[in-house]
Amino acid sequence: MSDDSGEHRPPRVLGPVDSTTSDLANRGWWDADADDYHDEHGAFLGVERPGGDFVWCPENLREEDAGLLGDLTGRVILEIGCGSAPCSRWLAAHGARPVGIDLSRGMLAHGLAAMAADESRVPLVQATAEYLPFADESFDLACSAFGAVPFVADSARVMAEVARVLRPGGRWVFAVNHPMRWMFPDDPGPAGLTVTVPYFNRTPYAERDETGAVTYVEHHRTMGDRIREIRAAGLVLDDVVEPEWPDGFEQEWGQWSPLRGAYFPGTAIFCCRKPG
Ligand SMILES: C[S@@+](CC[C@H](N)C(=O)[O-])C[C@H]1O[C@@H](n2cnc3c(N)ncnc32)[C@H](O)[C@@H]1O
Repeated sequence: MSDDSGEHRPPRVLGPVDSTTSDLANRGWWDADADDYHDEHGAFLGVERPGGDFVWCPENLREEDAGLLGDLTGRVILEIGCGSAPCSRWLAAHGARPVGIDLSRGMLAHGLAAMAADESRVPLVQATAEYLPFADESFDLACSAFGAVPFVADSARVMAEVARVLRPGGRWVFAVNHPMRWMFPDDPGPAGLTVTVPYFNRTPYAERDETGAVTYVEHHRTMGDRIREIRAAGLVLDDVVEPEWPDGFEQEWGQWSPLRGAYFPGTAIFCCRKPG
């Protein structure tokens, strides 16, 4: 969930953006944006709430209501791209044993500050999702609410890494921008209803500074790409949840708005399982 309204999106970078470039750019971007992100979205995400909150997406689907992760009691859970970790803190408050990882020290710092009001602390680790610094089969569950997966160059590698660290029978549930959103400008208004980009164009969306250095990247995968990456990692896809915009819910988040939500999905939540 980035904040870019898209009105003045610079041209796409032509050609691939590799993993190292993506991580460097996005780490810098999220570090620099962490305060603004929390000013704008912290309350909605429950960051300041003791015990956090688990919001899956701008459509306001909460784990409290959705129950996508199942029973949490005693479960060892890895949250990927946890940001300031309101989800991990909520999981801890509901009996789980979460660990959060994120690329951005600035985002994690907000989590450390927020945890001061909690009964329990969640371990937070600064790392990229493409190289999880954990032993094989060490987690019962993994989850992500728009963390890391839309931003990495090699999301197939993330799927493989999650499969590696999950125990047999473990589950991996992750929310990302719905792939069809790629076709439209990131605009919450009527301009965001007109297709401008081919769905099959995997050229990443990237911004550059005046020196030409990449400063922000998002990588597109089609629905089929996501499914193939999940299956290639040896995981089973149980469900894809496409949350509908709730009646009467008016809160916008960047390009997510009631107007667009009335026409097409903004989020896809992939519910996967490691056989065993
Ligand atoms: C839209 S925020 C979501 C954060 C949190 N899940 C939430 O709901 O607020 C995306 C997060 O992904 C993190 N991120 C981006 N690339 C990453 C990577 N390669 N590995 C780990 N985290 C990454 C960012 O630092 C940022 O905190």
